[in-house]
Parts: sequence; structure tokens; C-alpha cells
Amino acid sequence: MEKIVKWGIIGLGHRGSALSYLCHHIVPQSKVVALCDTIKPLAEKAARNLKDPDIKIYTDFMQMLKNEDIDVVGVFVAPEDNPDIVCEVLEAGKHVLCEVPLALTMEGCWKIVTTVEKTGLKFQMAEQLRYAAFVRSWKKMVAENMLGKILYCEGQYLHGMGPDRYWINSETGERVSIDEAEKEKLPLKKTRFWNLKHPIYYLPHELSPLLCILDDRVVKVVGMSTKVPSYRYQWFPQADIEVALMHTEKDTIIRLMAGFTIENLSGSEHSNRMVGTKGWVEQPKTKSEKGKMWLSEFYFSDRMDVEWGYSKYWEVQRSALSTGHGGLDYFPVFNMVEAIRLDKPVEMDVYKAADTAAPAILAGLSIENGSIPFNVPDFAPGNNRRSGKMPDKLF
Ligand SMILES: NC(=O)c1ccc[n+]([C@@H]2O[C@H](COP(=O)([O-])OP(=O)(O)OC[C@H]3O[C@@H](n4cnc5c(N)ncnc54)[C@H](O)[C@@H]3O)[C@@H](O)[C@H]2O)c1
Repeated sequence: MEKIVKWGIIGLGHRGSALSYLCHHIVPQSKVVALCDTIKPLAEKAARNLKDPDIKIYTDFMQMLKNEDIDVVGVFVAPEDNPDIVCEVLEAGKHVLCEVPLALTMEGCWKIVTTVEKTGLKFQMAEQLRYAAFVRSWKKMVAENMLGKILYCEGQYLHGMGPDRYWINSETGERVSIDEAEKEKLPLKKTRFWNLKHPIYYLPHELSPLLCILDDRVVKVVGMSTKVPSYRYQWFPQADIEVALMHTEKDTIIRLMAGFTIENLSGSEHSNRMVGTKGWVEQPKTKSEKGKMWLSEFYFSDRMDVEWGYSKYWEVQRSALSTGHGGLDYFPVFNMVEAIRLDKPVEMDVYKAADTAAPAILAGLSIENGSIPFNVPDFAPGNNRRSGKMPDKLF
């Protein structure tokens, strides 16, 4: 009989509820056996959504790991909580699929890297933009040298949050507006948006596809920021825009911008551009635009409009398309299930995850230190560090 991969899910907020549906109903050979959230009504709501009375509900994930027959755990909590929770899950002998970003501290990155090494279990980051059609296309173009040497990449992730995204009712998990929160009559908890000290900490989502295309890693970073508190929300102790400028091992310069307060045209704006010695490619910034491309060796007298997308005959399209982010959420879950069933390597392993998180953390540190540059460590084990051992210096 074919192996069915059994999931336990920790964190049933926005991401956990969407991804648990995928794990239970969409990805083949995969089912959820237990859900855990410290806010019980959120786990109960997610269980109702899965429509399976056999699914168990927990508020203590260690109890879930002890009681249930689970192969893999989805860790979908706030990123500052990833290191402790991910490592406890690995030490309990379970594979992990973890949401992006890996961690918000260098120590947290190393803790997860060395625990994955010590336990030998599978760890995958659930960053899904690296599976986008434009990424596959640009990666092929780079591999076939159509764009020449890639000199420069840029990207942005702008996602304006409304004033109801910073507090929740700690008993029900429901969003609480800033006005209601200020009245302080409700049991309140700050959300991950409030706790994300630097918007640039979220750049791993944008860096992951670029490093996937370039097959490269960042070696140096500087960060810059507008003032704190925000111009948009004067009560909010974060900058509206932060930018990281990075240099890679293979000599490409990358500039990434992140901001989560300012209003933008299409809600969530991810976009990238890549410039080589023989041409450039660019994703649309808004829904009404098309992608653009110019290739010097192909006699283009002007840039071309392009739409990158999967063929309608693509085999997993129907099930994938019913999932979030234009169908991309399907991929990391599918990839994790296949890696466990067939004992294959995962797509975005712990080193790739740390290679995207560390430049963001150090960009934040650069901002706090007058925009001085920081070197980004190589997380792979080698001459300077044995597998499973913490390094002498974190960075
Ligand atoms: N890949 C993407 O496109 C994408 C999009 C949004 C968010 N994310 C990431 O997903 C993660 C979750 O984001 P979200 O928006 O769902 O957050 P959220 O705050 O809505 O949900 C997190 C949940 O985890 C629960 N939790 C915290 N500690 C717990 C513990 N010890 N045991 C059990 N439950 C616990 C909280 O009660 C909360 O309900 C974050 O890391 C975020 O950065 C990724």
C-alpha cells in the first residue's frame, strides 16, 4: 500500500488554516491527523474547515507530538517563534515544513541549521514564490546564457496592512482594530505584524526566487530605512520602507525593498527585475501590466511584453490552482510529501532557508548601526565548522 504522509499542524492562523486544507484535501498521499493552536477556537475553526471528525485538536504541541502518530509537522507560527518550536519538533523526531522567514536572529538561524544537521531529519521552507513560472523561465534563460552575466537584480514586496492587523483578541483570535485596542477592554495580543521590528526582515520571500534563479548566495549586505515611527500610522514603531543592498558570491548586486504600511495598487505587490550583459527581464508591478523582456542577441528593436505562466495542460494545474498565491502554495507541500514518501531531498532545505533569512537579519542590524555593511556567513558545513556544531562566531 502507498505510504500516506501524516501531518500535525502548529499555528492555525491565516497560513496554518490554508496550508492544512492543502495537506488534507489537495496534495495526494497526505492527510492531517492533528491541529494545535494555543488559541483553541482557531484550531477548532480549522478542524471544522477540514470536515473530518477524526482530526484531533490540541493547545500544547508537545502533547500532540507525544500522543499522535505524525510524520511531519507544519510550523506556521510567527517567525520569532520558529527556532524554539522547530527545534523541539525536530528533537521529537518529526520532519518539519516551516513558513517563511526562517528566523529573525542569527542565533535562531544557526540553532535550526545545527538541529537539522544533528537530527538528520528533513526540513523544508514553505516559501512558494520560487515555484512561480517566471522563476522557472528566468532560471532557464540564465542557464542557457540568454541574458549573459547577471549583473543586477531588484525586487520589492509591498503589502499595505490595514489598522486592524496589529492586535488580536487573545481568547478568540479575532482581529481587533487599533481604536478598539486603545480602549483596552478586550484581552489583547500583538500580532506578528507588530512584532516584526524591521519590514526588511521579510525580504526572504523576495530573495528566495532570486537566489533560486541565480544559484547563488549573498555575501555582503547594507540596509537603509525611513524614519521610525511610521509616517502612515503614527502609533506604529516601525519604518514604512526599508531597503537592502546586497552583493552575491558570483558578483551580482541585488536591491530589495520591503514595506507593510503604505497603501499600494493591488494589495500585495511582489515584483522583480534582472539585468544581464545581454538583456533584461522584468515582472509586472500591477495586475494591469505585463512582464517585459529585451534580448540584445535576438534583434529586439524594442522590449517585448511577456506573460509568464504555466501551460493549461500542466498535470497538477487543477488541484494546484485551487490553492493560494495563484496555485503556488501547492508546491512546497507537495514537494515535502514526495520527499518523505520517496526519501528524496527537499527543494528549499535549511541552508537555502538560512541563506535568505540571514541577509534580512543583517540588513536590519545595518539599519540600526548607521547603514554599515555586514558579511553574511556561509551556513554549509566545511573547513570552519563541523556539521551539527554551532560556529565560533554567528556572523
Ligand atoms: N508564504 C507566504 O506567503 C506567507 C504569507 C503569510 C505569512 N507567512 C508566514 O507564515 C507564518 C504564520 O503567519 P500567519 O499570518 O498565519 O500568522 P498568525 O498570527 O495568523 O498565526 C500564527 C498562529 O500560531 C499560533 N501559535 C503561536 N505559538 C504557538 C504555539 N507555541 N503552539 C501552537 N500555536 C501557536 C498563534 O496563536 C496564531 O494563531 C509566519 O511565519 C509568516 O511570516 C507566509
